[in-house]
Amino acid sequence: MKSIFEKINSSEKIDLAIKKSNKNQNTIILGWIYRKRTIGKKIFIILRDVTGTIQCIADKSNLTQKEWIQLNDVYIESSVIISGIIKKDNRSPTGFELTIMHFNVLSNNNKQFPITEYQSTEFLLDVRHLWLRSQKMINIMKARSYIFKYAREFLDKNNFFEVTPPLITQTAGETGANLFEFNYFNKKAYLTESSQLYEEAMIFALERVYSFAPSFRAEKSRTTKHLAEYWHLEPEIAYFNNNQNMELQENLVSYIAHEFAVNNENILNFFKLDKNYLLNIKPPFKRISYEESIKILNKKGADKKWGDDLGVNDERLLTENELSPLFIYNWPKEIKAFYMPINPDDQRTVLCSDLQAPKGFGELIGGSERIWDADTLIKRMQEKKLNLDKYSWYIDLRRYGSIPHSGFGLGIERLIKWLLNLDHIRDTIPFPRLINRVTP
Ligand code: 4AD
Ligand code: MG
Repeated sequence: MKSIFEKINSSEKIDLAIKKSNKNQNTIILGWIYRKRTIGKKIFIILRDVTGTIQCIADKSNLTQKEWIQLNDVYIESSVIISGIIKKDNRSPTGFELTIMHFNVLSNNNKQFPITEYQSTEFLLDVRHLWLRSQKMINIMKARSYIFKYAREFLDKNNFFEVTPPLITQTAGETGANLFEFNYFNKKAYLTESSQLYEEAMIFALERVYSFAPSFRAEKSRTTKHLAEYWHLEPEIAYFNNNQNMELQENLVSYIAHEFAVNNENILNFFKLDKNYLLNIKPPFKRISYEESIKILNKKGADKKWGDDLGVNDERLLTENELSPLFIYNWPKEIKAFYMPINPDDQRTVLCSDLQAPKGFGELIGGSERIWDADTLIKRMQEKKLNLDKYSWYIDLRRYGSIPHSGFGLGIERLIKWLLNLDHIRDTIPFPRLINRVTP
């Protein structure tokens, strides 16, 4: 008899086993019980592994007494080793069926799996560690991993270095209004809200850098677009102006959408996504100035004054008919961060852009040119009432061989939510951190 590890080592994944099914060989498969049904002296099982599912059928006459009892006792999500022969079978939901000849239990659940068919969202979040095994979450987590890969691939092809900033800081990377503060050896420190300032330091060594790391926002908003901990892709580029910055953003987003569309048929089918829609996301994206956005909003019946920030409703109005993302550029300096340079053609605005996803999916990217002269930066920081002592290292960057540069930050969960057409951002990340949830 083969030992457990001998069996494990000679096992096949379900997708490959199905491909080889015409060879009529005995196949060993490792997996979890996804569905189980007993009809007389037959037990029907749907077995799941990372690659998919397959229907298996056990006939009492093919198994030993012990195997038959074990099989009877398994619950949904028990881990098992099954061996038998796979054949084409039109009655099976997957088109193939494995006739079980041997059966081992790796671990039989001592209790019924807590998740049954209809469960509340809150309950599914309480048992997130188990809900990750659902077909929905499996497909999202695969898509997430591929989207991370395509993003890195694009930046790699464009000669970027991936760098790793600290996540514990004493400087606010953005407004500082939403920082998580904690006691760091009896000093105040924060979880970073953006790695931008550290990326800026690194372009003087590597010219094109990006980090892909968590950012933390203590935003007291309960929306379908906000996480307290999200993954932030932040490229920073030496010698780029704001237009080049926008071009890089539209190329990055289009590359990800395109690669995702052509390489992931199963995921597209699972979420009923339109491949052509994704393939039609291509540069150049439409660009409107902040000023034009206010005019458009007022024409659509909103009551907006120049200088107002845009809310969820405004974002929806502006993008409801768009198929590709939309840039809104050159915003009023009062509502944007301290590091953005004044627009020489309109002193009221700064050289920046937000990239809005179509159909109200919200802001995907915020980016800008950066002030690269020390005196101008100090003046802007004083206007914004920042503590200059804390930022002395950042100002230093402008004192030694400063250069023009730009950068942006992409919220990867926002991108995943839009590409997969999901209702809520919490489903784009394995263990969401929300205003009312930090477990599991
Ligand atoms: O617009 P933000 O605040 O820009 C920055 O942090 C810049 N320092 C980035 C840079 O230039 N390097 O954030 C950038 C993006 C947003 O467009 C959004 O996609 C995402 O981060 N984001 C969030 N995603 C999920 N949950 C939240 N609470 C988010 N806050 C921002
Ligand atoms: Mg922003």
